[in-house]
Amino acid sequence: MNAETSTIYRDELANIVFVKQGGKIALKNTPANWELIGKGRSAYVFKIIGEQRAIKVFYPPFEHLAMEEARNYEKAAGISFFPRLYEAGEGYLVMDFIRGKTFFDCLAEGVAITRDHVAQVDKALELARRAGLNPSDIHLHNLLLTETGAVRLIDIARFSQKKQCTQWQDLKRGYERHYGQYYFPKRVPKWLMRIVAYFYQLRKRLNSKQ
Ligand SMILES: Nc1ncnc2c1ncn2[C@@H]1O[C@H](COP(=O)(O)OP(=O)(O)OP(=O)(O)O)[C@@H](O)[C@H]1O
Ligand SMILES: [Mg+2]
Repeated sequence: MNAETSTIYRDELANIVFVKQGGKIALKNTPANWELIGKGRSAYVFKIIGEQRAIKVFYPPFEHLAMEEARNYEKAAGISFFPRLYEAGEGYLVMDFIRGKTFFDCLAEGVAITRDHVAQVDKALELARRAGLNPSDIHLHNLLLTETGAVRLIDIARFSQKKQCTQWQDLKRGYERHYGQYYFPKRVPKWLMRIVAYFYQLRKRLNSKQ
């Protein structure tokens, strides 16, 4: 996909300012008709008010991921588990806004994640593989559950990497072993999920160095 040279969001995009604050990238201003809905390790995501669209704006030095993710969305086009991509340009993507909660928020708020939801993730990943993608980086913030019980997957920039990622199998194993057990809390504290994620990533990094 080629970078768009003209976009109706040109003024908003031009006005976005990112600033470096203590090693992190902070957003200085949110455009008037945009609402900040999320932030990750490479982008800020906004809902365009009055539209069912979300715009993902990559901050430095991750702008190049926009085109990578766009190419992956093109491959996943037509698979209902993924948002539809409307536009891709220098450092940004416009896609369907998904009204729902991330699996992270579901666990934090005590919203049940059922076997059917897990099966939907499996199905989405199988369809993505058939479309030539290599699903990677499947974590709790990249899985969304809508009010009608539909699961949606976002953030597929890393679906074209070569190495195999076992993150979803590991998450699923954790779910099958522990979720719903007598000791599993109804609401999982966010700090606890962040600590588990931190040690999981640390172990992965150490293993890949061996
Ligand atoms: N299309 C969407 N509809 C609704 N919410 C979204 C959408 N895209 C992103 N979000 C929200 O914004 C957050 C950050 O988006 P995203 O995961 O794409 O950013 P990222 O920087 O690539 O993240 P990561 O840290 O996983 O690499 C998501 O966890 C989700 O809460
Ligand atoms: Mg993400």
